[in-house]
Amino acid sequence: NRCSKRNRIYFCIVCRCQAEKYRSDLPKASIIICFYNEAWSTLIRTVHSVLNRTPAQLLHEIVLVDDASELAHLQAKLAEYLWSLHPNITLVRLPDRQGLIRARLYGAHVATGEVLVFLDSHCEVNKQWLEPLLAKVADSRRTIAIPVIDMINSGTFEYKESSLVKGGFNWGMHYTWEHLPQDYFKDERSYIEPIETPTMAGGLFAVNRQYFREKGEYDPGLDTWGGENLEISFRFWQCGGRLEIIPCSRVGHVFRQRRPYGSPGGGDSMLRNSVRVARVWMDDYIQYFFQVQPAAASIDYGNITARIDLRKKLECKPFQWYLRIIYPEQVIPDKDHGRSRNLPPKYKAKFKRGGPIKNKETGLCIVSEDEVPVRNSLLTLGSCDIQKKYQVWNETEDKELMLVYNLCLDAQDGMRKNVYAKLGKCDGMKRTQAWVWSIKNYVYQLYNPTSGKCLAPVKDGDKYHLTLEICTLNNKLSAFMMEER
Ligand SMILES: *[C@@H]1O[C@H](CO)[C@@H](O)[C@H](O)[C@H]1NC(C)=O
Ligand SMILES: *[C@@H]1O[C@H](CO)[C@@H](O)[C@H](O)[C@H]1NC(C)=O
Ligand SMILES: *[C@@H]1O[C@H](CO)[C@@H](O)[C@H](O)[C@H]1NC(C)=O
Repeated sequence: NRCSKRNRIYFCIVCRCQAEKYRSDLPKASIIICFYNEAWSTLIRTVHSVLNRTPAQLLHEIVLVDDASELAHLQAKLAEYLWSLHPNITLVRLPDRQGLIRARLYGAHVATGEVLVFLDSHCEVNKQWLEPLLAKVADSRRTIAIPVIDMINSGTFEYKESSLVKGGFNWGMHYTWEHLPQDYFKDERSYIEPIETPTMAGGLFAVNRQYFREKGEYDPGLDTWGGENLEISFRFWQCGGRLEIIPCSRVGHVFRQRRPYGSPGGGDSMLRNSVRVARVWMDDYIQYFFQVQPAAASIDYGNITARIDLRKKLECKPFQWYLRIIYPEQVIPDKDHGRSRNLPPKYKAKFKRGGPIKNKETGLCIVSEDEVPVRNSLLTLGSCDIQKKYQVWNETEDKELMLVYNLCLDAQDGMRKNVYAKLGKCDGMKRTQAWVWSIKNYVYQLYNPTSGKCLAPVKDGDKYHLTLEICTLNNKLSAFMMEER
């Protein structure tokens, strides 16, 4: 039964998922929702969608953890509303602000269901969202089951499906999206198969409660916000667990334009948290984080003794194992000088895919300034025309983008001002020639892991040149896409 043409992959997933049958003895779930100063409508929408779309026999309870919100509507009014809604909703209030991570830990300790399911307080779960997650956790106790996170527009509240991608991270310790291998989409039957993922995007997942506890829950030393998704990802993989995205489970999430709230102390909880995570889990690879974020090397990260002891007790694997086996796509700067600078005459790069690289804002493509590209040719934006030669960039296994034989997109010292990207002899060193597609809110950018920056055109007289800038969605010019052929 072929799926419809329009939006084919998504509808194919939906129609195949709807036909799935799940076992009748699934475990019961405690749904844990933590919030701080959440809007009434979004919080209530989250709770109602869970009640409406979760079979009663699978819902053990809903635990709402209020991280000491100040807003008036979240006080008595909320308690009364929930009281009348369902007998198995528990609302707990933390006496003072603990931050998202400690609030989640609190919720996990209050909950008594066999499986814990963490949700954010601004979600809308979709039809048959829970069954596939519970089925996975029931079959494999070691697995954290993660739904696909669809997007709810924070302005219009429109619901939009996300494409299937898996999670990675960059050396600045930020979450990134990774493409699935092309052949994942070759066979329609595989569309609904769970996808192993090196990291998870945020805090939406299902896990066996006992196993979560055995593996060290969350790091209670993490402050307000940030880094906990990488922490739990590294820890579970390195210590015998697994992370899988379940395409049949879909949860809509309201994406906000800005970080909703700051830390109580006003500090940068994200950077401090990342340092804790890196110091406990990343071994020597922490040096690459410090290269991208020099300030991280000297930051106060608190006491990590308990987490290091945990890592020893659980006999967790080294970070090198994680990179090699679980996240081979990751670029390791400098480390493996994949090929020598002088390529043998018959050298053939292994190509993963190729196509013109189009700038979304201008509709122009990355081309060489010289009609026949040579070494040191500057790069610019020109009209896209597949018929023309020298428009197709091939991605090599070493993360290079090759335009003509042995000439690759090279950031140069593009980190310096007025030094532009140009064509350099491909060196396989994964430094100034390494490019990774990073995706945020559907925007693709070309990210260079060594510098921690993104490719961005700048106007130079009447044309564009390419330079490296801090990755930000605010710079519309930095959005590119490869038109695959
Ligand atoms: C509340 O939870 C208990 C324990 O799981 C269950 O026996 C009971 O049926 C639940 N009540 C409702 C209304 O779902
Ligand atoms: C750090 O934590 C460990 C274990 O939690 C504790 O034994 C130790 O005293 C702490 N060190 C400091 C300096 O507080
Ligand atoms: C890019 O890949 C295509 C298809 O494999 C190939 O025909 C072309 O020669 C490659 N381009 C370069 C510069 O090697």
